[in-house]
Amino acid sequence: MKKTILTLLLLLAAATLVLRFIEVEMPPSPPKKPPAKKCLAGEAAQPGNDSAGEPLATCAELDAINQAYLRDIKPIFAAKCLMCHGVVTKMPLYAKVPPSSWLVRYDIKEAQEHLDMSFGFPFVGKPTDVPQDGLEEVIEVVQEASMPPFIYKIMHWHSGLTPEESKKILDWANAGLKTLND
Ligand code: HEC
Repeated sequence: MKKTILTLLLLLAAATLVLRFIEVEMPPSPPKKPPAKKCLAGEAAQPGNDSAGEPLATCAELDAINQAYLRDIKPIFAAKCLMCHGVVTKMPLYAKVPPSSWLVRYDIKEAQEHLDMSFGFPFVGKPTDVPQDGLEEVIEVVQEASMPPFIYKIMHWHSGLTPEESKKILDWANAGLKTLND
């Protein structure tokens, strides 16, 4: 009995190993809406004022943060985060084939509902009612090294952020927060 279980586990591990090198096209996902509003420079990007009576964020500020995101951060996220937190066209085959797909399917669905980072900044998703939230969430998960989720890191062993990548992301997010909060 023990032996059977061990053999099964080994087979599963071997299958995952092979499958992770094969990429498959994803069926076109239902179009997700990027934020519809077009932000004009000088306008307030969202309702509400900070304690000093200033707008919470101006369009020009958001645009500057987004430009830096697209240039410096999105390439990192594209490799390590967007397969869950975005709309992607390719996926490792194991994410489609049972039983390994069962392990990641929930994560991918959850992540897309939670936070979609493929349209640029501000991010689309629950924690991003104000753009600052998106930055704070990212800082938190990078500092705690809690993303990608553990089970995914096991199957995809280069998926964790390197120290250099973490630093880049933290620098960007902290600079963004400073811009918005000042
Ligand atoms: C395997 C899929 C997967 C990958 C890859 C992944 N995430 Fe996530 N992420 C999730 C899921 C699922 C959640 C929501 C549940 C949770 O908080 O654990 C989440 C939540 C988050 C949140 C919100 C946290 C909160 O407390 O609400 C942030 C920010 C985040 N991820 C950032 C990242 C970053 C940055 C990367 C790349 C370094 C990344 N994620 C890679 C699945 C993933």
